[in-house]
Amino acid sequence: MRRILVTSALPYANGPLHFGHILEAVQTDIWARAMRLSGHECRYVCADDTHGTPIMLKAQAEGITPEELIAGIEAEHRATYQDFLIDHAFFHSTHSDENRLCTETIFKALDAAGHITRRSIRQAYDETAQMFLPDRYVKGMCPKCDAQDQYGDSCEVCGATYSPSDLKNPLSVISGTPPVERESEHLFFHLAAFESMLKEWTRSGAIHESVANKLEEWFSGGLRDWDISRDAPYFGFEIPGHPGKYFYVWLDAPVGYMAASLALAKRDGLIFDDWWSADSTAELHHFIGKDILYFHTLFWPAVLQGAGYRRPTQVHAHGFLTVNGQKMSKSRGTFITGRRYLERLPPEPLRYYFAAKLGPGIDDMDLSLEDFVSRFNSDVVGKLVNIASRCAGFVARGGGHLAPKLPDPNLYDEFAAVAHRIASLYESRDFIAAIREIAALADRANQYIDAQKPWNLAKDPARVDDVLAVCTQGINLFRTLMTYLSPVLPAMAERAGKFLGHPILRWDDVQQPLLGSVLAPYEPLATRLDPKVVATLIEETPAAAPTPTAVTTPKAEAATPANTVAVVAPPSPDGKGEVTIDDFSKLDLRVGKVLECGLVDGSDKLLRLQIDLGNGDVRQIFSGIRESYSPEAMIGRHVVVIANLKPRKMRFGISQGMVLCASNDSPGVFLVSPDEGGAPGMTVT
Ligand code: MSP
Ligand code: ZN
Repeated sequence: MRRILVTSALPYANGPLHFGHILEAVQTDIWARAMRLSGHECRYVCADDTHGTPIMLKAQAEGITPEELIAGIEAEHRATYQDFLIDHAFFHSTHSDENRLCTETIFKALDAAGHITRRSIRQAYDETAQMFLPDRYVKGMCPKCDAQDQYGDSCEVCGATYSPSDLKNPLSVISGTPPVERESEHLFFHLAAFESMLKEWTRSGAIHESVANKLEEWFSGGLRDWDISRDAPYFGFEIPGHPGKYFYVWLDAPVGYMAASLALAKRDGLIFDDWWSADSTAELHHFIGKDILYFHTLFWPAVLQGAGYRRPTQVHAHGFLTVNGQKMSKSRGTFITGRRYLERLPPEPLRYYFAAKLGPGIDDMDLSLEDFVSRFNSDVVGKLVNIASRCAGFVARGGGHLAPKLPDPNLYDEFAAVAHRIASLYESRDFIAAIREIAALADRANQYIDAQKPWNLAKDPARVDDVLAVCTQGINLFRTLMTYLSPVLPAMAERAGKFLGHPILRWDDVQQPLLGSVLAPYEPLATRLDPKVVATLIEETPAAAPTPTAVTTPKAEAATPANTVAVVAPPSPDGKGEVTIDDFSKLDLRVGKVLECGLVDGSDKLLRLQIDLGNGDVRQIFSGIRESYSPEAMIGRHVVVIANLKPRKMRFGISQGMVLCASNDSPGVFLVSPDEGGAPGMTVT
């Protein structure tokens, strides 16, 4: 058993978590869960990164203390991670006693070992705000290309890098006045002393080959001293023995990894040194984005080594997420927060999509909303869940027990044999390949069932044993696939474990098929994503709003009372009463089975229905049929549903479709239903 501590980068406590943060947390969480499925002890810790000038100024602007600001954001971050099923062993804060203790200890050790030097530097100072200005808080004209309004460190127009004093007509972003230059003594960490150690470390397998070149560049450019102090006013930890000087946020931020593990150790009675001492045999893995490699592959290992601790085992860097091919940006509406997503959709489809996109390198990844919908609906709902839902009914009808043996043990062995390969793909962060293999196996499982046709066998009473055998095979294939996907879809795996009567805990469990045991009643494991809901993830900004040529909703839809009524021929958009076959095929008409039905408080027209549309797609639909049908009479009935109707928000909840019925001016409505044999999920054409 390996003992592993894993982290993801600490999000800044100055705003909500966005999709980039969620991507990183999902990657780390999947990796950690996969390691646990191999039987290793793997603990994932994280924290909020709370210090620095931007957070101090934001609190000032809001008229609250920085402590108040970060407390509110911490609560929000915790809740969002939790709702995305991120399993942190501990989520902490860099503004904590543990972090102060660890940071001071590290600083004192570095100082005692002679790694800290002092030197005076000249820096931009805002006399009105009475503070030194970080480079990004000075703006002016680029000294190279004369572009206006450029930051003090680099020009976004010509790409030049320089220092704030090089800008023409510089102004402080805080007060709007021209800054002056002022001298101040700073503390520096002497990075160059660690050059040979770092070169050796980078060759030890600690970083992926895709980032090794980047490091080579940094080495050949020479390792410069690192300024680790900032002058008051600053929100952070004051440096012991240096009144008015504070640790630079990037010094105490990675120490936050230690602090979180220290808090975890205290809470759970574990030993901090087991992870951090120089001779630790535990592994330390950091997941980060490629923008913060310098801090994690140079400063951090050097600081750890210099202070007498162990170095990271591996730093796993990922690329950046773009949305519909564009950089996430507020003005384009593509800056999607975790919360915005959770207000509309469950977490697992996004986890699945991110997994399907994440490879071991630092290439950027694009989230295409269309691709997101089709990948989840086809891979997870259409293929994976389909295997279980197709087989479960037959097993239940046969009494709920699985058969005592598998009809095709070789096929099962093929599925079980890849367990170790899948585990190692997860470990090497090649989630793309893992997902691809699992999806290919899901295809094979469906082919098996299609070839055996249990629904045909079931017509012959003499073949009940064969039906059960085929479905036992199907359920066991499903179980292996669900196990392989369980790091990605942990809640679904938990529900599947209940259905199977065996929780999914280890990769190795699949070596033993489930035979003769009882299945719990099958409940739908996942529902289809509605592309219309997914489309609303992107905020409508003037730039992103639909152009006038976009399809508009037929007026008639808005005119109908509830989502329920009675269209036999859909109203034509042009009002001529004639539609083409193409118009008709835009409707996703499906047979559904009513699972539940009840009255709606406050409405004497509506019934609330839960309708199974097949493949695990269960919808809540409100229908204005109460005067003609009682809830009891509806349960178990087959109906026809428009499945792709834009979800309608009603006073009572969201209606996700429409039930078809016939009516005319006289009272009463008549449900449209398929003839015998029509089953949930069938398409109505
Ligand atoms: N607070 C620092 C990290 C300190 S770690 C000791 C920080 N915070 S951050 O909030 O800006 O970013 C946190 C993580 O999110 C980083 O790993 C960063 O690379 C990642 N991402 C931020 N935007 C991203 C995308 N658009 N795509 C993928 N990840 C990105 O940096
Ligand atoms: Zn320029």
